[in-house]
Amino acid sequence: MVILYNNKPLTHKTLVMKAYLSIAEFAEKIGKSTETLRRWDREGKLQAMREPISNYRVYKKEQLALFENVQMTTDNKELSLNEIIPDRPYRVLELFAGAGGLAIGLEKAGLKCVALNEIDHWAAETLRKNRPHWEVIEDDIKNISFEKYKGEVDVVTGGFPCQAFSYAGKKLGLQDARGTLFYEFARAVQETQPAICIGENVRGLLNHDGGKTLQGMISILDEIGYKVLEPRVLKAIYYEVPQKRERLILVGIRKDLDITFKYPTPSKTIFTLRDALKKGELFDSDVPASAGTHYPEKKKMFLDLIPPGGYWRDLPIDLQQEYMQKSFFLGGGKTGMARRISWDEPCLTLTCSPAQKQTERCHPDETRPFTVREYARIQTFPDDWIFQGPVSAQYKQIGNAVPVNLARAMGKEIVRALNQMENLILLKKQA
Ligand SMILES: C[S@@+](CC[C@H](N)C(=O)[O-])C[C@H]1O[C@@H](n2cnc3c(N)ncnc32)[C@H](O)[C@@H]1O
Repeated sequence: MVILYNNKPLTHKTLVMKAYLSIAEFAEKIGKSTETLRRWDREGKLQAMREPISNYRVYKKEQLALFENVQMTTDNKELSLNEIIPDRPYRVLELFAGAGGLAIGLEKAGLKCVALNEIDHWAAETLRKNRPHWEVIEDDIKNISFEKYKGEVDVVTGGFPCQAFSYAGKKLGLQDARGTLFYEFARAVQETQPAICIGENVRGLLNHDGGKTLQGMISILDEIGYKVLEPRVLKAIYYEVPQKRERLILVGIRKDLDITFKYPTPSKTIFTLRDALKKGELFDSDVPASAGTHYPEKKKMFLDLIPPGGYWRDLPIDLQQEYMQKSFFLGGGKTGMARRISWDEPCLTLTCSPAQKQTERCHPDETRPFTVREYARIQTFPDDWIFQGPVSAQYKQIGNAVPVNLARAMGKEIVRALNQMENLILLKKQA
């Protein structure tokens, strides 16, 4: 019996082709012009397939669903032409997830978190509160087997706390790192076999143990089947973050995959504290009121005398000595001490506690530390991301995070790399 479709016999080819949409059909469904789609294809933002006989552009139906997914995760803002659209919902396993800075940045780039691990109760509560559908595994990573995610995740990410390995200069293997949290990260990668693994850390990892710790990590990832790119320190100020924070990024690509990853291109626009806390290009309202800590009276008395952008050297000399005590006679600028941030500069790196003597970040106009919501803004968390736990736990979660906009920039490049992989798989199937 011959089945007819559009008055023509339905063949294997027509069946296959109905899984695809023509460029005109796809354009209509997403409300864009065919010209825009052609340009996106040329620029690699939304890659089309080619119908084997006519060579016309066609799009997989799943690409449509993903397009909606991206629109949803970018706070319902109109999809920008610079957006890179995932060919399918790529899945992430996020380790050492904290309060989700990296996770929501990746989500904004169109990636989907299938599971997140975190040992800290309040951070895990924050993740659950904001994304009830995420699978949050609250436990020490050492107790978790990730075998069940094998083949289920495209990316494994993790900001493992940095620890030295004890080894004697030979090429390091996974077992040599046992007992460290990097070992647990690498074990999760080995168990799940994602296409890409991303480690993030403090800049200090570059020189930790004379660079040996980082070299050891690279050699372990190599041993378990991942080609590691040259590690890169990314400065958050170049990725729409109003803060001079830096993160070291380690990218591994599974060796059997022929995909290239490129670090995100720095932007020329630098945002300041004003952009973080006031209505403007970064946020469409002033920062909302929230809880925060206060300085003791004595400290307030010193900081009252510091102008925006100033620090302890702006005090009269006798007060400099009194405030700095022994540090006054030691070398180094100590520009973080008694520091008041100015509206017109990016904020200095936030730490886990907003009022520490070595890393003071006083509000520009008022003599007080930043509030919780101000802290969150400086890390580019959206205002509706609610932190759980006592105020000190909230500051800690925010201070530990990867800035959301930096994570989003990384996420877009992950999507770009995974799209390449998808296209190669499809081309192989078509051949
Ligand atoms: C640098 S923070 C991660 C920040 C997170 N990526 C973000 O962007 O918000 C590191 C996290 O690792 C968690 N952690 C430390 N040891 C752990 C362990 N043994 N198992 C699971 N999580 C752990 C800490 O509680 C902390 O939240």
